[in-house]
This record gives sequence, C-alpha cells and structure tokens, in this order.
Amino acid sequence: MRQNLKVIYVSAEVSPYAKSGELADVASSLPKYLSSLGVEVSLIMPKYRFPEIDSLTKEIVLSGLQVPLGEKKVKTCVYKSELGKYDIYFIDNPQYYCRENIYGTEKGDYLDNDERFVFFSRAVLEFLLKSKKQVDLIHCNNWPTALIPVFLKTHYSQRALFKDVATVLTLHNVAYQGEFPPETLSLTGLNWNYFKPQQLSFGGKFNFLKAGVIFSDVLNTVSSTYKREIQTKKHGFGLEGLLEKRRDDFFSIRNGVDCETWNPETDPYIIANYSPANLKPKKKCKLDLIEEFGLLLTVRTPLVGIISYLSFHKGFDLLIDVADELMKRDVGLVVLGKGNEKYEKEFQAIMRRYPRKVGVKLEMSPALAHKVAAGADILLVPSLYEPCGLKQMYSFRYGTVPVVRATGGLAETVRPFSYKTGNGNGFVFKEYSSQALLGTLKAALNCYRRPDLWKKVMGSGLKENFSWETAARKYVSLYRRALEVKRGGQIG
Ligand code: GLC
Repeated sequence: MRQNLKVIYVSAEVSPYAKSGELADVASSLPKYLSSLGVEVSLIMPKYRFPEIDSLTKEIVLSGLQVPLGEKKVKTCVYKSELGKYDIYFIDNPQYYCRENIYGTEKGDYLDNDERFVFFSRAVLEFLLKSKKQVDLIHCNNWPTALIPVFLKTHYSQRALFKDVATVLTLHNVAYQGEFPPETLSLTGLNWNYFKPQQLSFGGKFNFLKAGVIFSDVLNTVSSTYKREIQTKKHGFGLEGLLEKRRDDFFSIRNGVDCETWNPETDPYIIANYSPANLKPKKKCKLDLIEEFGLLLTVRTPLVGIISYLSFHKGFDLLIDVADELMKRDVGLVVLGKGNEKYEKEFQAIMRRYPRKVGVKLEMSPALAHKVAAGADILLVPSLYEPCGLKQMYSFRYGTVPVVRATGGLAETVRPFSYKTGNGNGFVFKEYSSQALLGTLKAALNCYRRPDLWKKVMGSGLKENFSWETAARKYVSLYRRALEVKRGGQIG
C-alpha cells in the first residue's frame, strides 16, 4: 500500500502569523489542501515576535538545539502548535526574529538577512535530524529557504535520515534572489570550492536563490506564463539561462484561492455577508469601506481598491502618473498596503490632494484586505510583472471586477470584457504605460455606468473556480516527480 507522503513546508512567512506578501497566503492554504488529500504536512517558520504568533498556544518540542553557524554553534528552541489539519513549528532566536518586520523596513532589508536565513535553513535540518522526524520531501519557497537543498546535498549528504529526502523549490518572484557578499559563505560552513559560477556564486556574489535553483531536485513557479517569462532575458533577472538548463525539472502550478477564507457568504471581516445569488449586501460593504477610509462618497460613485505590497514591480508608478487625470472623474480610490517608502509617500500625497475621494492605509491587515475585496467595485492590479497574483482571484469571489495588466498569472486568470460578445471577467491592458492603464480604467468606469453590462462582468468573475483543490493535486504529482528524481524511480 502506498504510504502517505510526508512533507515539510518551509516558508519565511505564513498567514496570519507573519505576512509580507502573497507567499504568506499560499503557505497557509496549500498545506491545508494538501492535508485534505492525505499528505502529512508540517510547516516550519521563524518565531517572529508578532502578536499573532505570541498568542498561539505552543509547546516547546526541542530545547537547546545547537545549530552550526560558521565557526560557532547557536542555541535554539523549537516550538510546535497544532492547527488541526497540520502542525506548525517555529524556530526561535530572538536576536534574529524579534524585529518589527520579516525582511526589513521601508528603508531597506535588514543587513544581517544572510545570517538570519542561513541560520534558519540550518536550524530546520538540525531540528528534523534531532527529532528524527520521518520526511519524504522538503518544500522550500523563495531565497530565504533556498539553501536547504544546498545543505542537504553537502553537510547532510551522508545522514541516513535524509538519504531519500527530495526537495522542491518554488520560485514566487525571481527578482528577489538573496544576494550577499562572498564572505557570507563563511556562515554556511561550506568551503570555497563551492563558490564558483556553476554553484553558489553569481556575478561575484553569493546568491541564495541561484544556489537553490541548482541544488533542488525539482523547481516550479506559480503560473505557466511567468514560467515562460522568466526564461527570457527581460524577466529572468539573470536566471534565465540556468532555468533553461533545468527545464526538464522545472514546472509551473498556478496558485489557487482559499475558498474557506475568501468567501463572502461566511467572511467574518465584512459588515454584511452575501452570495452570488444575492449581491445586494455588497452595497453595505461598500458604504462600510467608504466610512473606514474616511471618504465622502456616495454608493453610486465607482470605488477602485488596491490591496498590495507597495513595491516597484506592482506597477504603481503608472497610477501615480495619471492620478490627477483620473481624479477629474467621479471615482474613489482606497489603497491598502505598505512597502517601499517612495510609494507610501506618493500615495499619501495623492490622499492629501483628494481627501474626500482617496483613502490610504499603510498596513497589511487581513481584516481590511477582506473589506476592500468586498467593498470596492474595481480591484486594480497594474503590475509590471506578477508571477501569479491572488488578489484578482479573491476579487472574483466578491463580485469585484479586476483591472489588470496582462502579465504572469494575471494574464491567465483575467479575460478582457468584450462589449461585442459580453464575455470576459475583467479589464486588461498590455502595454506598460500610464496611458494604457488610464484608458483601461476609464473603460471599466464607463462600463460601471451600464449596470446591465457591469452585472455581466461581475457574473463571469463570480463563476470562476480557481480553487486550491486542483492546484494541490498538481503539487502531489510534483512531489512524486521530485521523489522519482531523487530516488531514481523508487517511491514509497
Ligand atoms: C509573490 C508574487 C505573486 C504570487 C505570490 C505567491 O508574492 O509576486 O505574484 O502570487 O508570490 O506565489
């Protein structure tokens, strides 16, 4: 009889405990859906000092764990919380994780991120070893965990417990690679022979993501369009050649929506619940959102929402350019998110110019994210590139119409509305220009004035089914594939 797969899912962020971007949502949903398919999943993340983690019921499962870090050994404790469908383990180290944020502040990354995540990756493996946890596969995400496959194939290659353990590395955004000076190598305990272009070095730096791309058994990314895009010079951020080389082990699985969390019928964060069959209460949600952001708008004015990490690649330069032009129209805008100081300031300046029509909250609050998804009429995602994007898929479920740029997962999930055929679930522009964005937003705003047509667009979105169930099944196949790669075809 086939045994259940035992998977360790490792991520620097997991909703609602620690969230910087959409990876956190993926990390909390995918394990849940995997466990419904019979996969035994355990999650491992750093024990940040965030209220959501502090308030969890936890027990210490391992104390005094000695983690090698360069010449020294760093002592740590591992905590466990049982979440029902899966367990979550927290690696403690107040010196590294007792900070305001996960990776850095609006001014830039923490300067010791190399040390923080070399330590975390080593600690994960030391913990598995010491606790003798039976594992088939370790699923790593992004650069902070990308050294795990490297360590497995070097320091731990002779360990019986890890002999058959396969690794998958998911690339959620190759623009962030974790690049550090060569001296960082000394933290890993690896010798300088590894610091060559075929292995850990890249343009003279120690590049964590690149190392993971080389050492993991199987790679994947989060939409097939993005997979194609990052194999080109324009979007590959230098990794295109390597990804091309690894094409036989490089796959794509589009993220899904956690339909339990994002469900307007049961959503506890919104003022009135509603369903595709009865959308009337959505109006109440809109009024609530208008009030929450302190705007002076009536329910008839179309309201555009943004829920996003505020960084360059999210395309907000385009909107900032045409904000004054846009605000000449009868329209409202709510922006929820934080990130790069430049965008935080720009959005605040727009709010000051149009205090009745524009509201900005520089935070990442799940409650507010749900309110925006439900209360807005339009959700704007103008990304320069977008590996997958989840917000447009959430917005469909809430009858909120996405306006997006055709890139990555956005291009796959949003179909442009056609007046001719009445088909399409949103509005899409291709060219990365402010005029293209403005033109498409205007088209959406005009359509909003035609309730018969608007209902059609909303209706198409409400019918979409981008559930995690399908994606989780694909992950199970991917895991089996990784085990085949690792074990040469013999899987349990
Ligand atoms: C990153 C990407 C985003 C994707 C998410 C989860 O945040 O930018 O497009 O949806 O990872 O995979």
